[in-house]
Formats: sequence, C-alpha cells, structure tokens
Amino acid sequence: DWTAESFVESTIADLKAKLGNDKVVMALSGGVDSSVAATLVHRAIGQNLYCIFVDNGLLRKNEFEDVLESYRHLGLNIKGIDAKDQFYKALAGLTDPEAKRKAIGKTFIDVFDHEAHLVENVDWLGQGTIYPDVIESVSVKGPSATIKSHHNVGGLPDFMKLKIVEPLNTLFKDEVRNVGRTLGLPDAILKRHPFPGPGLAIRILGDITPEKVQILQEVDALYINGLKKYGLYDQVWQAGAILLPIQSVGVMGDERTYERVVALRAVTSVDGMTADWAHLPYEFLADISNEIINRVKGVNRVVYDISSKPPATIEWE
Ligand code: XMP
Repeated sequence: DWTAESFVESTIADLKAKLGNDKVVMALSGGVDSSVAATLVHRAIGQNLYCIFVDNGLLRKNEFEDVLESYRHLGLNIKGIDAKDQFYKALAGLTDPEAKRKAIGKTFIDVFDHEAHLVENVDWLGQGTIYPDVIESVSVKGPSATIKSHHNVGGLPDFMKLKIVEPLNTLFKDEVRNVGRTLGLPDAILKRHPFPGPGLAIRILGDITPEKVQILQEVDALYINGLKKYGLYDQVWQAGAILLPIQSVGVMGDERTYERVVALRAVTSVDGMTADWAHLPYEFLADISNEIINRVKGVNRVVYDISSKPPATIEWE
C-alpha cells in the first residue's frame, strides 16, 4: 500500500543512488510542488542541490522575502534573484495576454539560464512536475510547461540539455501534500492557493507598470489577509484580485473622484479544470470592500466576480 512515509523513504534512497555526488539545479516558485520536490532532493544530496528563486516583480506583496525565508528555514541552499527590472522592461507596453506570458517565459529562461551557468559542473535539472502535468501536458501551464513551450524559440538554453530529475512525477496533488506534511513542510506552503506562473501580470488587464503592480499588491494583500482572518482561506481553492483597465466615478467628501476598479475573484474547485464562484458571506465582502477603498489610494470601486468555469475561466486573461 502507498503511504507518504514509504514514498519518502524509498524516493530519498533512489535519489541518493541516482545522483551520487552530482549537482542539481532547480527553480523554486514558492508553490507546493517545487517546494516538496526540492525538499526530497535536498534530503538526498544536501548542499549539492542549488535552488534558485526569482523575483519577477509580479509576486504577491512580501512574497519574495517570506518564501525565501521559509526556504532558508528548511535548510535549502537557495539563492534569491531580484530580476524585477528585467521583467518590467520585457513587459513594457505589452497588452495582449499571450504576448505578456511569452515575454515572462522568455525572461525567466534568460535569468535562470544565467544563474544555472554560475553553478559549476552541474549535471541535473530538478523539476516539481506531478502526474497530472505528465498526462495532461497540453493543458499544463506551470513553470515546467513554460520552459517546454519555449523549446523551439531560438535554440535550447543550456540548462535544457541537463538530465532531468522529477521525484513527484507519479503523484497526484493530494499525495504531494501528504508527502510535504511527512517532510515537515509548513502549512504556509502546503495549503497555499495555486498562483499562476505569470503572477500579477495576468491580473492587471492591459499593460504592466510597477505602479499598477503596487496597487494590486496592496489590494490583494488586504483581500487574502481578510480571507484568512474570516477563516475562509482554506475553504476556497483559489482567490485573487484583478486590476481593471477602466476608471469609474466616485465621491469622497465633497469631491468627485475618477479612479480605478478592482474585481475580487474566489472559486471552489477540485483541480482547476472546472470551478464555481465561491459564495463568500456578504458580511465579509462588505468589510473587505470598505477596507480596500479606504486604504488603497487610487481605487474607488470593488466588484465581485460571480462567473463559474466554464464558460468563464478562473483568471481574466
Ligand atoms: P484558468 O484561468 O485557465 O486557470 O481557468 C486555471 C488554473 O491555471 C492557472 N493559470 C496559470 N498558471 N501559468 C500558470 O502557471 C499561466 O499562464 C496560467 N494561466 C492560468 C490559474 O491561476 C488557475 O489556477
């Protein structure tokens, strides 16, 4: 019978045998899959695992610092790379969702390839691929898929020539969480909502500027903290805020305002393939709407997305 304990034990033994004294380089995202995969490889080969965590400037508020800290706490050999400016430059002026995704994917590859070169004599690329990624590779949109879909764009980056080690590629998500729990990973990682690789770039409709990112980070942080405070975070599958490319009229004191609109999204789902909009309590929505409008400068209207998937998607881009 499959148990997380026996999986951990046999996987670490297999990794030790397979990797020996080899070096492995791996990009981490802060998500469950890459964190669990890295922890397994780390248990097997220790400091010969070189982890890289890239700040693409499109993460949630404080996410880069928080995640880096929890990785350090786990003992991982992790390097944080501030590549915000490189990503903002690549995104400047782009409005088409797929063009934004491509620019982000390409920039990520450039940054990662550069960093991978700094590790001498590396043999392996570690990846957090899980079983559904393998069987549904067409519909995967994770970092590994981003890398794969860029195969044919101007030749292979050097790290793509490395041998691949994917210790989770026979597991489903709930099994990955169990393995993570067995390995002692914190709930902050294990229960984290899924977050798209292109991050806030696909939640800012239209072009990306650092100013818009900052506004959305503030809104999103109030929303996510509110969900946690109300005990709702673990009841929804994914939640986030979207910055709309329109302004609306409002009133503050005697003044007319003409400011930004944000949409809040929360869904329940099993696997993200279908999803229902979450029936969040009115009391929570009322509170959070007030808090956002009162505290985030430049936002004067909040709407709640009541669309299910299909026919809507979870993200707006
Ligand atoms: P949709 O919007 O297609 O999203 O209903 C389903 C799930 O996929 C995530 N998503 C992405 N993840 N890169 C990713 O790594 C992407 O480009 C991307 N687009 C959507 C989305 O957050 C949801 O969990």
